[in-house]
Amino acid sequence: MLPEVLDAMRPYFFDHFGNASSIHHHGQETRAAVERARESVAKLLGCRPAEVVFTSGGTEADNLAVFGMARPGDHVITSTVEHHAVLNSSKHLEEEGIEVTFLPVDGAGLVNPDDLRRALRPNTKLVSIMFANNETGVIQPVADIGRICAETEVYFHTDAVQAAAKVPIRVNGIACDMLSISGHKMHAPQGIGALYVRKGTPLSAMLYGGNHERSRRAGTENVAGIVGLGKAAELAMKGFEASADKQTAQLRDRLEQSILEHVDSAGVNGHGAPRVPNTTNIYFDYIEGEALVIALDLKGLAVSTGAACSSGALEPSHVLTAMGLRPDRARSSLRFSLGKQNTSEEIEFASELVKIAAGRLRELSPLYHKTAPAHS
Ligand SMILES: Cc1ncc(COP(=O)(O)O)c(C=O)c1O
Repeated sequence: MLPEVLDAMRPYFFDHFGNASSIHHHGQETRAAVERARESVAKLLGCRPAEVVFTSGGTEADNLAVFGMARPGDHVITSTVEHHAVLNSSKHLEEEGIEVTFLPVDGAGLVNPDDLRRALRPNTKLVSIMFANNETGVIQPVADIGRICAETEVYFHTDAVQAAAKVPIRVNGIACDMLSISGHKMHAPQGIGALYVRKGTPLSAMLYGGNHERSRRAGTENVAGIVGLGKAAELAMKGFEASADKQTAQLRDRLEQSILEHVDSAGVNGHGAPRVPNTTNIYFDYIEGEALVIALDLKGLAVSTGAACSSGALEPSHVLTAMGLRPDRARSSLRFSLGKQNTSEEIEFASELVKIAAGRLRELSPLYHKTAPAHS
């Protein structure tokens, strides 16, 4: 979290602890704070405040979009590289008898809008294609996808958890009907998020209870979290004005270049596609990604493989394999993500650590010496 975000939230744990639905003045104070935050999030997305539904995070926002829209007899289209919040929701729809098409991606991780056009059926109700991928940062052609959906009168949801506050978003520019965001990907806390729902979208609620969030999401509002999300949205807008996104991209590019310069048999996954400024995903052939994660963690650099661990067996990333990477290359890939607070010194530190750790692990790799003798 950014310190300014915590500062904005702090009074809502102690001084202003009223339930935002209460009539007394404590409630009215927190109601006003929730509505101010809604305005800030609406400004970040270019929508009306009334179109913002606060949720417990990105997963809930994605689930609300998918399950709130698809009904028996409908057809849904998504992609093979979605976050599990959409992917597993879509698989669950299949179990319920709803037909789902999972669109493939090319080597750079991009969905082809023509594939979408071809996949549309008369009963297609919803298209859910992510804005930016959480493992590679690759940005999908969401404006083209939105145009196709608008032309064919199909509802379009985009998971923008990895894009919000990193690239400017205007919901009308991409013609989406629903868009998910999450606090902890934009310097706000974990456990808060929002779903943009275009006015008039016939979305069913998933949680039943009170009439909170205009009956779209029941439950007492997480006031402090909402205030934090609003503050983070406000700071993100200021960041765009100050070209903070471009500075992050420069640091990310420097990290990439430095690693590729010093480590052979490595490359960027998703290279050539538009990407969010803070993410890079790099493969290190002949290295087990997990081993590199641990080696780097011991030295103070936290990165991830993006792979899921199921019953002790490490599965290669579904995103990278969908992009056509061999399983061993997918397993050798790491995601590096930067935040607003990262400095150029930290970039030097990170690239130096990667160079040393990758060199050490390769010294231990018989395959590296056998297969890549030029480097042994
Ligand atoms: C693209 C994407 N969608 C959805 C989520 C889920 O969001 P949350 O962790 O807030 O539930 C994440 C979280 O990493 C994500 O990266």
